[in-house]
Amino acid sequence: MLPLCSYLTIVLTAILFSFKSSAIDTSTHEDNFLQCLYTYSHNSTSISKLVYTKNNSSYSSILQFTIQNLRFASNTIPKPLVIITPKEISHIQTTITCSQNHGLQVRIRSGGHDFEGRSYVSDVPFVILDLTNFREIEIDVEKKTAWVQSGATLGELYYKISRKSRNLGFSAGVCPTIGVGGHISGGGYGNMVRKFGLAADNVIDAHIIDVKGRFLDRQAMGEDLFWAIRGGGGASFGVIVSWKIKLVHVPSIVTVFTLPKTLEQNATKLIHKWQFVASKIDENIIINVILQRANSSKKGVSKKNSTVLALFQTLFLGGVDKLIPLMQQNFPELGLVKEDCTQMSWIESVVYLYGFPKGESPEVLLNRTLAGKDIYKVKSDFVKIPIPEIGFEGIWPMFDEDGGKDAMMYLFPYGGIMDNISESEIPFPHRYGNLYQTHYSVHWHQENDEVEKVKMNWIRKLYSYMEPFVSMSPRTAYINYRDLDIGVNNKNGYTSYKKASVWGVKYFKNNFKRLAKVKSIVDPLNFFRNEQSVPSLVSKGGI
Ligand SMILES: Cc1cc2nc3c(=O)[nH]c(=O)nc-3n(C[C@H](O)[C@H](O)[C@H](O)COP(=O)(O)OP(=O)(O)OC[C@H]3O[C@@H](n4cnc5c(N)ncnc54)[C@H](O)[C@@H]3O)c2cc1C
Ligand SMILES: *[C@@H]1O[C@H](CO)[C@@H](O)[C@H](O)[C@H]1NC(C)=O
Ligand SMILES: *[C@@H]1O[C@H](CO)[C@@H](O)[C@H](O)[C@H]1NC(C)=O
Ligand SMILES: *[C@@H]1O[C@H](CO)[C@@H](O)[C@H](O)[C@H]1NC(C)=O
Ligand SMILES: *[C@@H]1O[C@H](CO)[C@@H](O)[C@H](O)[C@H]1NC(C)=O
Ligand SMILES: *[C@@H]1O[C@H](CO)[C@@H](O)[C@H](O)[C@H]1NC(C)=O
Ligand SMILES: *[C@@H]1O[C@H](CO)[C@@H](O)[C@H](O)[C@H]1NC(C)=O
Ligand SMILES: *[C@@H]1O[C@H](CO)[C@@H](O)[C@H](O)[C@H]1NC(C)=O
Ligand SMILES: *[C@@H]1O[C@H](CO)[C@@H](O)[C@H](O)[C@H]1NC(C)=O
Repeated sequence: MLPLCSYLTIVLTAILFSFKSSAIDTSTHEDNFLQCLYTYSHNSTSISKLVYTKNNSSYSSILQFTIQNLRFASNTIPKPLVIITPKEISHIQTTITCSQNHGLQVRIRSGGHDFEGRSYVSDVPFVILDLTNFREIEIDVEKKTAWVQSGATLGELYYKISRKSRNLGFSAGVCPTIGVGGHISGGGYGNMVRKFGLAADNVIDAHIIDVKGRFLDRQAMGEDLFWAIRGGGGASFGVIVSWKIKLVHVPSIVTVFTLPKTLEQNATKLIHKWQFVASKIDENIIINVILQRANSSKKGVSKKNSTVLALFQTLFLGGVDKLIPLMQQNFPELGLVKEDCTQMSWIESVVYLYGFPKGESPEVLLNRTLAGKDIYKVKSDFVKIPIPEIGFEGIWPMFDEDGGKDAMMYLFPYGGIMDNISESEIPFPHRYGNLYQTHYSVHWHQENDEVEKVKMNWIRKLYSYMEPFVSMSPRTAYINYRDLDIGVNNKNGYTSYKKASVWGVKYFKNNFKRLAKVKSIVDPLNFFRNEQSVPSLVSKGGI
């Protein structure tokens, strides 16, 4: 499907290791880098039209386009010298090689959803390889597979699958603007995870361009590297150009509901019970819980005017007539009735569960600027033992604090097929024994140091409060919910294995060692690096 530029690869490999290091004047770096790009491009006309330097009037809009977290958009945040938006494999190969030759770091960006902005921010002189033009999707309905390029969004993928068949879908995240590239590289969790596993569990081949500029498929890259890129986190091993994925069977009719319950409506008891139900119930159901501050309906009666609202949000892969008895059997306390439920097609459920009203057209999934951008900080945990009611009761008052406004806590159940996949099958290790995953977030809407301080303190306080209730030794986390608080490499991205292990074992447990071994073989000099990239055991802990 993709052109394999073997001629170019040979040329590039030959000039590869002529490092010109030691950072001096960045404008020289930039000029030399650009000259290199144009010299080694087999078609310099076409690449020059895909290169944005700081003095180009479109530079800023191209940079901002997929920045989701505006915490990393301000003027004080370091900007790339150049943004390259490749259209061909050769453009990526040239960018990799010329960056190495001229001492520039490369940050790879697909959908730009990294919670800590690592796909477009660096402390050292860098360029962005923005894959926005790499977004072809080819679907094979017969074989139930698809090739999808990294720059495509989940929304584009879901939409295109649904146009081919009402009974095919893909198991991945909820937010349609997420890029396939970063998402699958880090695992990829969504509403069908209990039945079909993560996005990365459903990858059967991939195309990557490595540090030497080689274009490799699964067979050429070998099983170790193919293992590492399915959940080991983007940006450590090379540029993933496209993925071959397994599509899954979805029924013609699915059922959704969203049931809001406040504290006055026994939300605490319901959540407590939910913990015993959500990971054990039939794998065709996912019941997510979203917690946030809300106005109390009992204004003036109780001392406080605010309460906590728990939204029980569900996807059931089947009709309502099967759902109601299942819920009555397993979770009668929720009191679900038929009237709470809506039947629809799978693609309509994707639109609804993202947050659109029922009946919104699936075409909205093609909108790449859908998400209302704001400023946020996110952290995550895994829960293995049900939290007692009193544990939850300690959280509620925090939502009344200043920092708790526009804060959310999500509870995402595991179980189902997640319990059946071994911890070392792919780098994502959070399998059997995890009841659910939590995701904490605080949001604000304007740059303001004071507000930022309040919000950051709030989420860190909540995280610290949760410590006794969540996974321990290590306290695990999900790499796609990147959190730089849990540990970072040295400033220049180099690091010792020991230092990296602080964050590495939280994301990957025992798989971190194998990731470092793969890294040492495929990128020994640690060209592909960032604040949380897998370290090479070969390169010393810094320069
Ligand atoms: C609003 C929102 C909702 C979310 N919902 C979910 C959800 O439901 N489920 C879930 O699992 N996650 C969710 N996430 C997290 C999301 O999956 C991760 O942030 C994911 O890494 C984003 O991928 P991206 O391509 O959009 O991001 P980017 O910022 O482009 O990339 C993320 C990381 O991967 C690297 N990378 C990107 N592309 C490539 C590539 N082609 N080759 C190599 N490395 C690459 C980047 O350098 C960066 O380090 C959500 C995030 C946001 C902001
Ligand atoms: C180079 O690319 C341009 C623009 O895409 C195209 O018009 C031209 O024919 C290409 N030239 C060669 C030699 O391939
Ligand atoms: C900016 O860069 C783009 C892409 O390389 C190019 O097409 C455009 O002509 C440039 N604009 C200016 C004003 O230089
Ligand atoms: C824009 O920047 C590039 C690279 O720094 C430089 O070569 C070029 O002369 C600049 N153009 C203008 C019009 O300033
Ligand atoms: C809350 O639970 C109590 C006892 O468990 C019950 O009596 C009461 O009716 C419940 N309230 C609501 C609103 O369901
Ligand atoms: C709560 O009430 C306040 C004041 O009436 C209002 O500004 C706010 O939007 C309400 N919040 C919610 C979540 O309804
Ligand atoms: C709650 O709301 C009532 C009426 O809106 C108001 O008089 C009262 O001061 C509020 N109480 C608190 C604690 O904010
Ligand atoms: C995409 O969604 C945003 C936010 O809802 C909206 O402002 C914009 O008009 C939409 N774009 C298109 C092309 O529909
Ligand atoms: C998990 O394995 C068990 C036991 O082999 C099996 O009964 C169950 O169906 C499997 N679950 C899924 C979702 O594959």
